[in-house]
Amino acid sequence: MKDLNNKVAVITGAGSGFGRELAILCAAEGMRLVLADIDAAGLDATQALLPETTEVLKQHCDVSKAGDVAALADATYERYGAAHLLFNNAGVAVAGPTWTTTVQDWQWVLGVNLMGVVHGVQSFVPRMLEQGDACHVVNTASVAGLLSVPASSVYCVSKHGVVTLSECLHHELQVAGGKVGVSVLCPAFVNTGIADAARHRPSELADANPLAAPFEARVKKAVQSGKISATEVAQMTMDAVKAGRFYILTHSNIKPAIETRMRDILEERQPTNPMP
Ligand SMILES: NC(=O)c1ccc[n+]([C@@H]2O[C@H](COP(=O)([O-])OP(=O)(O)OC[C@H]3O[C@@H](n4cnc5c(N)ncnc54)[C@H](O)[C@@H]3O)[C@@H](O)[C@H]2O)c1
Repeated sequence: MKDLNNKVAVITGAGSGFGRELAILCAAEGMRLVLADIDAAGLDATQALLPETTEVLKQHCDVSKAGDVAALADATYERYGAAHLLFNNAGVAVAGPTWTTTVQDWQWVLGVNLMGVVHGVQSFVPRMLEQGDACHVVNTASVAGLLSVPASSVYCVSKHGVVTLSECLHHELQVAGGKVGVSVLCPAFVNTGIADAARHRPSELADANPLAAPFEARVKKAVQSGKISATEVAQMTMDAVKAGRFYILTHSNIKPAIETRMRDILEERQPTNPMP
């Protein structure tokens, strides 16, 4: 997708971090926006950063709920009659040893990070295919979708799921022969609100890993010392969308660790710890 002017971008998790920066860049392209989040104040803050002339539809949407995402698609098509660029971006994170993870850790993180993407694809891609014009889906995974990081199994499982879902979707869209493309965004640590994801954890899924604290503190430190900004990640994402590139690896210094994992698998070696 090269010419984005006047096209429609739908962004989940638009109330903070990457979602907010993507909204700013899409607005700069002259796109009409649909901003979705569970954080209404965050959406207002994002809108306040956009030019007043940008057309914006803000919608409360919990991506873990299929009905909310279906309603988001309905609202998008009712307002604009089309959706061209979908960012399945909303995400949350937990940390801690696998053997003390709780069922609710898994339900919360897989519900948002993986099922959120599933719901986005189910609700938007059939209509994008029907539309017949060029469309693109960007699924936010992580380098955690390409590596296996200790004390991050819940998050890694969710993001590995997003990577393989996106690869499958890519193949399917190629076979279908339409004009819908897909990319998968795989950043490493970036200073956003992700380390404070628990701020939005639903009370019915509050039972968290009892050993999470030291590992979450480590993640927070790593996130805060991220060298690449959310703005830069968003810019690299828009560049990849325009170039029709599938894999978006924003942190090239991580590539050797990915290669080592692949070599470990192919040579049937013991797995190398990417974050010793
Ligand atoms: N920041 C990083 O280091 C990093 C690295 C790799 C991948 N990611 C991924 O990037 C994506 C964006 O995260 P971010 O870093 O901008 O964090 P962030 O916390 O700043 O933004 C995430 C947004 O998602 C929203 N959200 C949370 N649960 C939701 C739900 N159920 N439904 C709808 N919205 C919900 C939050 O309210 C927030 O506005 C996530 O998928 C995250 O896993 C982040």
